[in-house]
Amino acid sequence: MDLHNIRESYNFDSLEEAKIDSNPMVQFSNWFSQYKALGIKDYNAMAISTIRNNEPDCRIVLLKKITDCGLVFYSNYKSVKGRSLSENPNISALFFWREQERQVRINGVVSKLSIKESSTYFKKRPYLSQIGAAASNQSDHIDSRTALENKFEKFRQAFPEGTEVPMPTDWGGYLIKPLKFEFWQGREGRLHDRIVFTSGQNCWNKHRIQP
Ligand SMILES: Cc1cc2nc3c(=O)[nH]c(=O)nc-3n(C[C@H](O)[C@H](O)[C@H](O)COP(=O)(O)O)c2cc1C
Repeated sequence: MDLHNIRESYNFDSLEEAKIDSNPMVQFSNWFSQYKALGIKDYNAMAISTIRNNEPDCRIVLLKKITDCGLVFYSNYKSVKGRSLSENPNISALFFWREQERQVRINGVVSKLSIKESSTYFKKRPYLSQIGAAASNQSDHIDSRTALENKFEKFRQAFPEGTEVPMPTDWGGYLIKPLKFEFWQGREGRLHDRIVFTSGQNCWNKHRIQP
């Protein structure tokens, strides 16, 4: 398949220093809210990259909370990403908002949420998602789909709907504390706007980079 002739032009918006918030978390929230308003399915999806044994690995997770301190997502602590993050807490998160011709890159470090915080969210999840999380040793080998469904069914019977499904001990939230942001806005002629924020001592340093 030859994709060389695919061409798009970008002219949805521009990103001038004067209109960017001096706090990149606020700028991120502003852009996120604008994208959210479009009502696109999985608008809170982000790609997160981790590194283990020098090997980069990337997958989609759902952003569940934006706070002044950073970004929250949930996963299995013993999954491939969980094991990677326990060895190396550095993470890169990526958002691609095609309709607005925007990309946001965030590099930072993760820490685990407290069990109480994770459990508060776990209890709010739909019943089948709770059972799914309990029944899955995420990223581990399983012999067949049938074996997986049997495992699911076992948990369903042990914890019928209406009873409390215990939060798996290996499941919980991560907080990404951002150390670097890049806001990218597509422009005509590939002269895209790119504004980078790096964390300094109690402040953020902002500068423009070439497209
Ligand atoms: C739209 C979408 C949302 C997802 N959300 C999550 C999530 O919030 N948490 C999670 O652990 N995996 C989520 N996944 C699955 C991950 O992409 C991945 O398959 C899983 O976490 C195992 O990754 P790992 O083996 O690298 O640890 C999502 C996948 C997609 C496509």
